[in-house]
Amino acid sequence: MTNILMVCLGNICRSPLAEGILKSKLSSDFHIDSAGTANYHAGSSPDKRSIAVARKYGLDISHLKGRQFKTSDFDLFDLIYVMDESNFRNVISLARNDEDRAKVKFILNEVYPNQNYDVPDPYYGGEDGFENVYKMLDEACDIIAKKTLT
Ligand code: 4NP
Repeated sequence: MTNILMVCLGNICRSPLAEGILKSKLSSDFHIDSAGTANYHAGSSPDKRSIAVARKYGLDISHLKGRQFKTSDFDLFDLIYVMDESNFRNVISLARNDEDRAKVKFILNEVYPNQNYDVPDPYYGGEDGFENVYKMLDEACDIIAKKTLT
């Protein structure tokens, strides 16, 4: 059983998309969740542009609600995928030991090993940014789902 947490800054654009995409590729036996390093959007629905791009590809993420990452997430999750370097630094700063630190991974390293590439923050851009993010996350989640099932 693998529990996987997706993390971005606000938990309204990138990580809810990653959560919805990975859930669509795995059975409901897996615990998949998302969180933000900031608390600005705690309790909020995903950004309407993330909801729209997910819907375009047949996924409904409209029911998800934002929450902030917390230290106890290290106890609940086996893998913590961050979207960018800033998320990485923020999550690592809350790690208590090497076991916690070993759980934190750049999501795009699944596609481009060891490169530490960012999933760009689409919040201040247009719809294109969300389409681009969706494609990056879909490719990464395909690999994560296959690894999780083997
Ligand atoms: P996310 O995008 O980290 O992908 O959810 C953002 C959402 C909100 C803000 C920044 C990034 N914000 O500054 O409110």
